[in-house]
Amino acid sequence: MFNDLNYNTGNETDSLKECIARSPILWNELEKHPEKFRVLTGERTTGALHIGHYFGSLKSRVTLQNWGVEMFLVLADYQAITDRISTERLKESVFEIILDYLAVGIQPKKTTIFCHSMIPALNQLMLPFLSVVSMSELQRNPTVKEEIALSGAKSVSGLMMTYPVHQAADILFCKGNIVPGGKDQLPHIEITRLIARRINNMYFNEKKFFPEPELLLSAPILLGIDGRKMGKSLHNAIYLKMTADETAQLIKQAKTDSNINITYDPNDRPEIANLLRLYSLCTGIALEVLASQIEDRGAAVLKRNLTEAVNEYFKPIRERRNQLKSETDLIWKILKEGNIKANEIANQTLSDLSQAMHMQYY
Ligand code: TRP
Repeated sequence: MFNDLNYNTGNETDSLKECIARSPILWNELEKHPEKFRVLTGERTTGALHIGHYFGSLKSRVTLQNWGVEMFLVLADYQAITDRISTERLKESVFEIILDYLAVGIQPKKTTIFCHSMIPALNQLMLPFLSVVSMSELQRNPTVKEEIALSGAKSVSGLMMTYPVHQAADILFCKGNIVPGGKDQLPHIEITRLIARRINNMYFNEKKFFPEPELLLSAPILLGIDGRKMGKSLHNAIYLKMTADETAQLIKQAKTDSNINITYDPNDRPEIANLLRLYSLCTGIALEVLASQIEDRGAAVLKRNLTEAVNEYFKPIRERRNQLKSETDLIWKILKEGNIKANEIANQTLSDLSQAMHMQYY
């Protein structure tokens, strides 16, 4: 599963190619020597998580955690406001995401869950970091450019242009050396490495105060049931928190094609291929085998079997989520304890850096 990094785009940059080649090696190392690594990853707090998040990243985070790799998960609430969306639903999102984490098997005793906005020293690191990157480096970040284009906004916020530097602070405050994420995160990791290198050179005599983290590439994310990217506004995502009935309803509406014979053909039949991929992830059975089991019984049978498989797979996760849903105090306590730990580490890092920068005045 971890080695399935088949992006199939044919136009990868050299650094992405390197990253694709590196990831299986890193997985191996992580399993053999968990003590050598500190993992930092997380998400924007824009709502509950779906099964694309699950198969793309949550599942492998739980594996890393259970191998004994130290892990930090950031709820990036400041990054959620890069395009100046309303903040009204941030609290609800934070709550829902923590519930999702716990439901899939993240254990707060092993994994630190914290949120951006409550770690002042982390945020303060952004200022020295900003001082070592140029405007043109900020402006040529392809992920940021794409987000700006997609948002269709008339103007671009300063936070939008600079959030990759903020993300560098997320990663470096705790000296994370591994960052699991999709290929869209690569430009952010590259700028993080640049910042680490420049700060080390300028203030630590080239010693490694900050590590130069590596991206641990996650498998390409599943498409939504309409064949487009799974997204909140598109109503095409199966959420972890959905009921079995809601899941069935959604899969029923999934886009297919007019060919009655079910085959796995990702190039010519992307929608069917996507459904088969999900079916395979939930059953552990190979794609071609699943396709040949259905054959000319068509998309209706595929959908029926898929619905069963998804609901079966997520049943225990959903049950756990439902049990925890009313434990509001517990959820906030987990966040509070994570924040306390993150604050201790961030304060220490900032203090060491300030000292190296001759900015500790008394
Ligand atoms: N940029 C990430 C996303 O859009 C979220 C994120 C914020 C993140 N801070 C991070 C990911 C630090 C990895 C490490 O999904």
